[in-house]
Amino acid sequence: MAGRANRSKSVLVAADVPYTRMLLKQALEQQEWAATTAKDAHEALVKLQTSAPDLVIIDLNSFDNASEDLLMKARIAGHRLPVLLLCTLLDRDLLRRVANVAPVGVLTKPLNLDNVKALLPAAFGPPDQFLRKGIELSRYRPTTSDAKDTYGATQTVEEAISESRIDEDRIQKMFGAMPLLPHVVARILQLSGSDESTVKQLSDVVSNDPRMSGQLLRIVNSAYFGFARRIATIPEAMVILGTQAIRNLCLGAAVSSFFGGKSRLLDRMRLWRHSLAVATAARKIAERAGVAGAEEAFTAGLLHDFGRLALERHLSDAYSKAIEKARSEQVTLLQAEVETLNIEHAWLSGWMAAKWNLPGVLCQAMAYHHTPERANETDRVVAAAVHLGDILAHLGGLAGVEDVLYDVEPNIYASGLLRFDLDEVQDIIPEVQAETAALEQQLSVAMGSEG
Ligand SMILES: [Fe+2]
Ligand SMILES: [Fe+2]
Repeated sequence: MAGRANRSKSVLVAADVPYTRMLLKQALEQQEWAATTAKDAHEALVKLQTSAPDLVIIDLNSFDNASEDLLMKARIAGHRLPVLLLCTLLDRDLLRRVANVAPVGVLTKPLNLDNVKALLPAAFGPPDQFLRKGIELSRYRPTTSDAKDTYGATQTVEEAISESRIDEDRIQKMFGAMPLLPHVVARILQLSGSDESTVKQLSDVVSNDPRMSGQLLRIVNSAYFGFARRIATIPEAMVILGTQAIRNLCLGAAVSSFFGGKSRLLDRMRLWRHSLAVATAARKIAERAGVAGAEEAFTAGLLHDFGRLALERHLSDAYSKAIEKARSEQVTLLQAEVETLNIEHAWLSGWMAAKWNLPGVLCQAMAYHHTPERANETDRVVAAAVHLGDILAHLGGLAGVEDVLYDVEPNIYASGLLRFDLDEVQDIIPEVQAETAALEQQLSVAMGSEG
């Protein structure tokens, strides 16, 4: 590791103050490290793609939404780059927000170049060391002035880190244990559109996967559809039901297997039904608003709470505490997850999507289905549709987890983007309920076959 640290590196510096950019650039170049600069989060994201840096330094007006946004996007986009954050105030709240986005280092301002130079090599060592050394070199305040702090002001750096960070090992184990998304699903997700060549490719992909084609033929020949004669091939099924329906049935069949098995913690069938409802509602909302991405909204809706499923399956003890907390203290499960596990299931869903190499729009919509304003500009509309679809599903009695509070207040940003007025769209709810029930019934054949 030490050898690697000494080699010349390329660094992306995102700072809104020109003087800071210049100072950092000079300091890095003195170390013979190449520096590229960006004046805002947008430019930094573009340069992140084009300059392939080894490290990112973010100083965008202390640590505000733009910095957090950039940090999360870099992470969600699958870049596992070390990030050094420069901030005005380093306290528990900030640690809480950044510690899981490892490897991350922090330094308080005013900028001290000696500290920057001392800290940079740690960026390429163990993630914990980067954060630890950064805190040592910073002025760390254990509590914020207005926080209702129950831990007292004597908390050490050591305590702050361990409390702020979800155990990396656990996360790694969790992902190691998570079933892979079948290859055929990833292929189907890459094939969007309805031109002739896509239809042909989709048909080939499904036909060439014996398990998937078998499942699909069982579904289309089930009593639900009640066709007079047997449908024997995938191309025939596509002609009769349409490409889009086949695509969604394939995805649904593959995804349903993740929701199989019994759990003492939560009713997985319920979470599955909720996923179908959000998929259906998100597509309807996008269609109604006349925006592009209705099918992506469906797919992202189907997968949006995967993070919750992962937490339930692989961190079940901790997750049961979160559910208990939500029920006993009457807070939302989202809030209880963050307070208990220090992780948000939506972010985890997005992370998994990135791990599975799903298209960027799905990663974004999954990661930000509770905070659509934080999604990429191009993908925001899909994230907003899933967010609003989630609310409609809850209002229609199709919540994913029993007896927990859910915030049904639509995000203002999402409402504006999709011209969504809760009073006006209430009439969609019965349609969502009916279509969810139909889809569930169609897919039950596949679910049954999974055992
Ligand atoms: Fe969610
Ligand atoms: Fe949800």
